[in-house]
Amino acid sequence: MSVVYLNGEFLPLEQAKVSVLDRGFLFADGVYEVIPAYGGRLLRLQEHMDRLQTNLDAIRLENPLSADQWNEIFEKLLEENPSEDQSVYLQVTRGVAAKRNHGFPDEVSQTVFIMVNELSPVNKEELRPGVSAITLDDIRWKACNIKSISLLGNILLRQQAHDRNAAEAILINEGNAVEGAASNVFIVKNGVLITPPTSFCLLPGITRDLILELAKKHQFKYEVRDIAEAELSSADEIWLSSSTKEILPVVELNGAAVANGQSGPIWEKMIDIYQAYKSELRQGCAE
Ligand code: PDD
Repeated sequence: MSVVYLNGEFLPLEQAKVSVLDRGFLFADGVYEVIPAYGGRLLRLQEHMDRLQTNLDAIRLENPLSADQWNEIFEKLLEENPSEDQSVYLQVTRGVAAKRNHGFPDEVSQTVFIMVNELSPVNKEELRPGVSAITLDDIRWKACNIKSISLLGNILLRQQAHDRNAAEAILINEGNAVEGAASNVFIVKNGVLITPPTSFCLLPGITRDLILELAKKHQFKYEVRDIAEAELSSADEIWLSSSTKEILPVVELNGAAVANGQSGPIWEKMIDIYQAYKSELRQGCAE
């Protein structure tokens, strides 16, 4: 039985309960983070916590814990729920208010919930066959840069992909591919790796940033610019990135093969570099 953290207490998952008046439950009034840990070491912890702070500021909610407090809780939960690869899920809501009322309550006591899940090991051989994706019109709001717990748009879009036997929906906003329902998107064209710039249309993914950093370090050709919808169907490679899925090649889009229908050579290089980065992290030589 996994041990979770809820408002100052460590307790078994089944005993963790929040009030039905919690604004997370009533309004999805909160933000969250997902941080992978390899060999007990959290990947890009500082970047994840910086993004959490940016998101808390965006929804005008004070950070209830100091950096040291967050770290102590993460360490305890990682120890209490041992497995080689893990992912930390945390969410902070605007807490319980006496009445359901859209405006913020005068007194706020944030709800903090953190759990650790086992992350199934990702290896290149398992990723190589790739996945299918479909394109869908992005029905979400104009603040997709906030990692909000309000994910109704994302889950409806992801489910439409599943209904059509695809793993992910690539979202089209004003003619451009912006991101996946729960991932960032990259294409490769003529040897150049391309991903859209950060904006209110997409989540600034930590994995996306790490891929760009590794691309720079290893002298890949890359561009950060809009990707027109039409460029997807003529791309040599399409990738999806996220903390839990790492870098996933898309080999079929809307039922048609992406290039030759197999994961491509640039993905092969990047996934090796990414796996090497994870190994360094496990050994304590990366962040
Ligand atoms: N989601 N875009 C969206 C809409 C996402 O939900 C995610 C990740 C990403 C990738 O961000 P990162 O590289 O920081 O994981 C992009 C997480 C994993 C989730 O909701 O479970």
